[in-house]
Amino acid sequence: MTAPYLELRGVGQSFGKYTAVAGIDLSVTRGEFVTLIGHSGCGKSTLLNLIAGLGKPTAGSIELDGKPISGPGADRGMVFQNHSLLPWLSVYANVYEAVDAVFPGRRPQEKQVKRDRVERLLRVVGLWEHRDKRPGELSGGMRQRTAVARAFAIVPRVLLLDEPFGALDALTRTSLQDELINLWSFDQATETVLMVTHDIDEAIYLSDRIVVMTNGPRATVREVVQVPLARPRERHAMLHTAAYADLKEHLLELLAERAVVGAA
Ligand SMILES: Nc1ncnc2c1ncn2[C@@H]1O[C@H](COP(=O)(O)OP(=O)(O)OP(=O)(O)O)[C@@H](O)[C@H]1O
Ligand SMILES: [Mg+2]
Repeated sequence: MTAPYLELRGVGQSFGKYTAVAGIDLSVTRGEFVTLIGHSGCGKSTLLNLIAGLGKPTAGSIELDGKPISGPGADRGMVFQNHSLLPWLSVYANVYEAVDAVFPGRRPQEKQVKRDRVERLLRVVGLWEHRDKRPGELSGGMRQRTAVARAFAIVPRVLLLDEPFGALDALTRTSLQDELINLWSFDQATETVLMVTHDIDEAIYLSDRIVVMTNGPRATVREVVQVPLARPRERHAMLHTAAYADLKEHLLELLAERAVVGAA
């Protein structure tokens, strides 16, 4: 058995008297692609923020590679749900700044490698022509694509994505999903991905395992579902397999069940 890489043990987070999540146990092995799904407000962003090191859980522990997470680090790249960018910098500078912070090389050839990387990613997300605009001059989807380019550009070992494609049209979303799979499969550095999504098809297409959460308060892991589809996956072929249909039905049942429990 492979040793766990990211390990959450009994993780809980309270905000004052409100306990958002409780008793979260989750082991992710190095190289896994895991998605988190659950109803709005159940605590998905809370969990991802804790793994990013933006706060300490009020209960339990989180370890990465055997060490407790004590703050943000370049080993983890995060795309926030509100796709936060530096408002005074252009699209290009927002992405370059992130790369520069992680790869501090100052020699001309090192700078060129960074510029090439930024250009490639801005082209991938379709923003090369808009690279001189500031965040305030962008549409919501463009801001989101800039945030995605930033996180991809720093080639973190663990990529934490909080609904990174939520505001995008279906076509852009599909191509960024494929880019994400490429990054994860072929880029040596980015080994492990933890992603929040509301889109069940996206979760199935991308992940090895899907973590379904219960509703809050005291939201916890309802079930961890293995995705039994071989890789590389072919999007359209996948949609016609029995394994896909069964899995989708199971996930929808889990989510519907919780809606009833939450309403009670
Ligand atoms: N800083 C905070 N202070 C107080 N309560 C908070 C804070 N952050 C989150 N919460 C509460 O914790 C719960 C979980 O919030 P969280 O943002 O993690 O949900 P989510 O699953 O990401 O939802 P969504 O799918 O809508 O993004 C909510 O009830 C929310 O109000
Ligand atoms: Mg959220």
